[in-house]
Amino acid sequence: MSIIFIKNNKGGVGKSWLTLQLAHATSLLNKDINININNKVLIVTTDSQNNILDFAGLDIEIGAGLESWIYKGDGDLIRLRNNLEYIPLGNSNFTPTFKNKIKSTLYSLKENYDYIFIDAVPVAGLDKEFEEIADKIIIPAFMDVVTLQGINKFLDDVNIKKVKAIIPNRLNNTAYENKLLNEFKEVLNGTTILVTDPIPQTALISNLIAKNKTVWESSSKKIEPIQEVLGSVLELIVNEK
Ligand SMILES: Nc1ncnc2c1ncn2[C@@H]1O[C@H](COP(=O)(O)OP(=O)(O)OP(=O)(O)O)[C@@H](O)[C@H]1O
Ligand SMILES: [Mg+2]
Repeated sequence: MSIIFIKNNKGGVGKSWLTLQLAHATSLLNKDINININNKVLIVTTDSQNNILDFAGLDIEIGAGLESWIYKGDGDLIRLRNNLEYIPLGNSNFTPTFKNKIKSTLYSLKENYDYIFIDAVPVAGLDKEFEEIADKIIIPAFMDVVTLQGINKFLDDVNIKKVKAIIPNRLNNTAYENKLLNEFKEVLNGTTILVTDPIPQTALISNLIAKNKTVWESSSKKIEPIQEVLGSVLELIVNEK
């Protein structure tokens, strides 16, 4: 059982969308090659925007979110897909009590799930406790100088062993982006961090989002390269200790 934290302090890089794609993929897989039962997956968030619900196509009023689970041990549990559930966040006011209890709350939730994915807020440090609980960290990224500087700073501060992959997302395939991507790959060459092939900024994805579908709910041939990129990350999530 692992806790996966999808983090970048930069906004709009695709944290929430990618969290849903990776969590959904995980929930479609069997627990084990010998067991014909799917993984049970939970998504929680440190972002009160709750964009996961938008991407999953649910328009739901948030009642008792993660705060309630922390203070009362009970709260909203929203079914997104088969074997895929979501606990929303009512507000990002992380009181000292909230911070103290987050670990034990996630650990008790962990008993009912094979994987917990955490969709992070684009603010440095705000969800540090979640980062500390996480077993693995995945970083979606733009290929621009400012975002890469932010990632370098994040990598300096974090337990680097937890960082499994960086997913360049929303790329426009410009010469400049490709140059930065190659330089960045070079810098991380020799580490255990996978820099995946880039995911383009594409109408293919915007259209799927507009239809409230994940990439695993599309039968279009054109989506296959994107499924492959996500598949390379999935392997690190489900196979690697
Ligand atoms: N590869 C892509 N192609 C097209 N649109 C994309 C792609 N990836 C993400 N998007 C869109 O980009 C926007 C930002 O994505 P998302 O909300 O997942 O980012 P985020 O990092 O969670 O943002 P925030 O920092 O606000 O939480 C969304 O409108 C999403 O639909
Ligand atoms: Mg988000």
